[in-house]
Amino acid sequence: MKNSFIKDIAFYVPEKILTNDDLSTMMDTSDEWIKTRTGIEKRHSTGDTNMGPADLAVLASNKLFEKIGMDKNEVDFVVFATSTPDYYVPGSGALFQEKMGLDNIGVLDIRQGCSGFTYALSVADKFIKTETYSKILVIGAEVQTTQLDFDNDGRGTAVLFGDGAAACLLTSTDGDKGILSAHLHSDGQFIDVLSSSHPSSKYKDIINEDNIKKRQHHIHMNGREVFKHAVRRFKEVILEGLENNNLTIDEVDMVIPHQANYRITQTVQKQLGVSEDKVFSNVHNYGNTTAASIGIALTEALEQNKIKKGDIVVLASFGAGFQWGSVVIKW
Ligand code: UT7
Repeated sequence: MKNSFIKDIAFYVPEKILTNDDLSTMMDTSDEWIKTRTGIEKRHSTGDTNMGPADLAVLASNKLFEKIGMDKNEVDFVVFATSTPDYYVPGSGALFQEKMGLDNIGVLDIRQGCSGFTYALSVADKFIKTETYSKILVIGAEVQTTQLDFDNDGRGTAVLFGDGAAACLLTSTDGDKGILSAHLHSDGQFIDVLSSSHPSSKYKDIINEDNIKKRQHHIHMNGREVFKHAVRRFKEVILEGLENNNLTIDEVDMVIPHQANYRITQTVQKQLGVSEDKVFSNVHNYGNTTAASIGIALTEALEQNKIKKGDIVVLASFGAGFQWGSVVIKW
């Protein structure tokens, strides 16, 4: 059977940087509060450029193809993960295909929030293992800053998120390497703990002055509740992936968790009983870029030579839904 492996990965973040001090001028927060509670120092924003996730994905993909030295039209399928799609209809995948100038290949949209990248990789892996496709572009792209409430009411979430995109080429191989397994979960009873529900097809009368005054059109989160479930599920799903492959935590060379909060990452690291250098973190520079965060972190881990051939790497995610997952990879 064919294996699927990550040939290479690249990312793009918009030029505009929002520091914690910048946010302090918009709402009642401080650099000290944000850094202490989350580790975040800055995030990138599309600002007033009108760029959507498809635009960021094009810039990330161009960097990827340049890095690999590959013609983009060799790609035979695209899996596009975002929770902040450019349009309701069609999904960002179709916009991306057109903007990128790809042949008329299939595009699949994934809407799994912070777990978008692990879900997207899992789907792409199956297409490769069934020999349906052999070169799949997996995208995680997000423009979160459009839906944030940069006002006192929104300070609990607005300081956390940033914009960015990662593009990864998953290819077919006969070699003893690649994605060993993926484990995906959800628990929809927690939908309202972290959601952006308005406007939507469900709430038809939502676009009115009253609801806008109630700030219904922004993302809402009960941070403490998310934190509590995140630390439990990260550990669980990482161990599930290892057990499935008869691996122990000592055999893992690098864990790349979704980047939401440095305190979450630290807690997971301690729970797993591994050293700090085995759990990658770059949340301080980008904030939570949702579906893009694991891809951005994986790119930087590779650039910093933290992953080498033969290493066991575990990607793990947790986010809205709740939805969580892990992908175990032999590099
Ligand atoms: O990827 C999945 C998506 N999200 C996450 O994983 C996020 C998970 N949760 C978290 O990261 C944390 O819960 C937060 C960073 C969101 C919040 O940290 P916390 O330690 O749980 O703080 P809290 O929400 O309990 O708030 C503590 C205090 C409150 O004030 P009082 O009630 O103690 O007076 C908040 O009103 O901090 C206040 N607060 C702020 N103060 C300054 C909330 N947001 C801010 C802010 N600046 N931005």
